[in-house]
Amino acid sequence: MKVLIINGPNLDMLGSREKEVYGEQTLADMNAEIAEFCAAEGMDAVFFQSNCEGEIVTAIHEARTRFGADGIVLNAGAYTHYSRAIADALPCVRVPKVEVHISNVHAREEFRHVSVLAANCNGVICGFGADSYKLACLALRNIVTKAGRA
Ligand code: DQA
Repeated sequence: MKVLIINGPNLDMLGSREKEVYGEQTLADMNAEIAEFCAAEGMDAVFFQSNCEGEIVTAIHEARTRFGADGIVLNAGAYTHYSRAIADALPCVRVPKVEVHISNVHAREEFRHVSVLAANCNGVICGFGADSYKLACLALRNIVTKAGRA
């Protein structure tokens, strides 16, 4: 079981960006923590980050063919709230997807309460920092395992 973890714009700035919202951890540190968690749970994690909408669209398209992934964890950053292109990319690939956020978007500004991606994902997890990604990996594993049994 291999999970593709996609981070969108400004998430490369974790560790220095709005520490009171996103914490002190850098993206590299967070990814290392997620990779270790996945390994302990018998999963492989592969990571992709881009500040560009089209590159995120392409990474989603190539989840299986380039990354060999069985599921996608997607933190599209601010694109979550308005990118129809990323929303349309999600049903292009037949792997389960979980939308995640580090912060609790529902406790923040109103524009962050809307996700144009959520309806094209199996579920959404937000507000748990790096644990949002770990919980998403467990959710994907459950979906893939259940599908395998069906
Ligand atoms: C975020 C929340 C978004 O509203 C914001 O634009 C981000 C990060 C999060 O992980 O909490 O860039 O997706």
